[in-house]
Amino acid sequence: MLLQVLAAIAALFVLSGLLNSRRRNMHVPPGPKALPLLGNVLDIPKKDVHVTFRDWANIYGKDLMKVEMPGETLYVISNKKVMVDLFEARSAIYSSKPTMTMADSSGFKNSIPLLPYNARLKTSRRLLKQGLSPAAVRSYFPYINNRTALFLEALLKDPDDFVRHFTRTAAHTALKIAYGYEGVTEDHHLLHTAIETMEIFATVVNPGRWLVDTLPILDRIPVSFPFANFKRVQEESRPVVFETVSKPFEEVKKHLAEGTADGSFSSYLLQSEKPDPETEDCIRWAATSIFLGQSDTTTATLSWFTHAMVKFPEVQKKAQEEIGRVIGNDRLPEIQDRDSLPYVNAIMKEIFRWQPIISMLPRSVVQDDKYNGYFVPAGTYLLANIWAVLHDPEVYPEPEKFMPERHLKEGVPNPLDVTFGFGRRVCPGMQVAQSQTFGTMAAMLATLNLKPQKDEHGRDIIPETRTVDGLIRFPVPFKCAFVPRSEAALKLIERGAEHARSVPDRLERWSD
Ligand code: HEM
Repeated sequence: MLLQVLAAIAALFVLSGLLNSRRRNMHVPPGPKALPLLGNVLDIPKKDVHVTFRDWANIYGKDLMKVEMPGETLYVISNKKVMVDLFEARSAIYSSKPTMTMADSSGFKNSIPLLPYNARLKTSRRLLKQGLSPAAVRSYFPYINNRTALFLEALLKDPDDFVRHFTRTAAHTALKIAYGYEGVTEDHHLLHTAIETMEIFATVVNPGRWLVDTLPILDRIPVSFPFANFKRVQEESRPVVFETVSKPFEEVKKHLAEGTADGSFSSYLLQSEKPDPETEDCIRWAATSIFLGQSDTTTATLSWFTHAMVKFPEVQKKAQEEIGRVIGNDRLPEIQDRDSLPYVNAIMKEIFRWQPIISMLPRSVVQDDKYNGYFVPAGTYLLANIWAVLHDPEVYPEPEKFMPERHLKEGVPNPLDVTFGFGRRVCPGMQVAQSQTFGTMAAMLATLNLKPQKDEHGRDIIPETRTVDGLIRFPVPFKCAFVPRSEAALKLIERGAEHARSVPDRLERWSD
């Protein structure tokens, strides 16, 4: 085996040398000077790679820039027009994904974000489009609004653990939307396994972390092999992933047979599609992808929102004034109030612009192409640096500053058109994501003051704006005091939570 691995490494280097010499004769995009074999790897920092890539793009070109990695050439895009040209206008060939061997072998081979652009992906996207249609998403609003009230109640009981409350609420909502049957959100084992699955996903889908992603032959190493820690990670992951993907789905089928299923994503599609086994498996994985897509992303976004409110009290005050003026003090704001709360909506846009929780989008092109005179060979790994687009000072002046007002001006490009991606791989959950984020933000602002905590000298602890490294960009852990704005606000939370507990925990069937 060792010999095979060494042979593969040698072959890879020879191949990469040959490819490089082939590329020398073609018109390739400019990029930073690269070392033989190692390419630019030594110049790439471990953290905030998108910032380095933006700085390089300012020198070598925002349209297409070449970055050499051992065995792989990346084309980095830092210009929105090029992203639209390639991922939308030429989506038939630019909608595939680079293979992630580590994640595939950990049980995620069929998860939608990792699928290449094939028949299975097309079926899965069609199902997601149906199950997350505007009408379907609207039918989830009452459930999400009720969950928000329960979230506020839990937050006040245990405010230090606010990030966990975000995760639990997002996970509850995702499980309910995906499977819907009564009791799904009270199944603590399922919730725990599902959150564990999401954590595994974030670990194994981590470009640059696993050597096996660059050298897939390593995947054939037996688990007993010394230094094969990654194989043990895969072995431990698979049963957890399998349980999350199958157990709640089998429950839905049982509830459907018994006539007790809700109007969830899975139950609706199982009935409307009358699926063959292959399509049923696509529905099973599409439901899991709702969970994988929703939980960490919503948690990270709401963590950045809390972070911003602690740092920028004047923004918080303006939003609270708007909510008081438009909604009053007799009810909690809801998702449906979005159009009448433009300033709160502008805060949400600014959160998604200022701290996009995904900074770069991977794509792979399936056939040779030419763009602006540059050759893009089939199989090229492309990275769209959406962070760079959202921090372009020509579009968003003083991009490092948190300024929701910028989105109230005419003609400012909407960051939501970029944060959720492009074309045939655009985030299918963007309506759910925006609804849940907006509803939670508005309800928090209506009832609570988000303030810095004090140190032992009574001084405010203002969090530094720094990111934890990972697939999803989270702020480094920070403290926040959640202070009820008034007795009336406390009563609103109490009443909202009581109401949420009193109504049946059912999703009603939607119709388009
Ligand atoms: C704050 C929330 C969210 C953000 C910022 C976000 C962002 C993204 C982005 C940037 C992509 C990749 C798009 C591309 O490559 O062009 C994506 C893909 C995806 N998202 Fe989201 N997302 C969020 C929430 C959700 C939710 C709530 C769901 C499900 C209900 C979801 C489901 C998915 C799925 C299944 C994919 C893979 C699509 C594919 O590969 O074809 N996301 N998301």
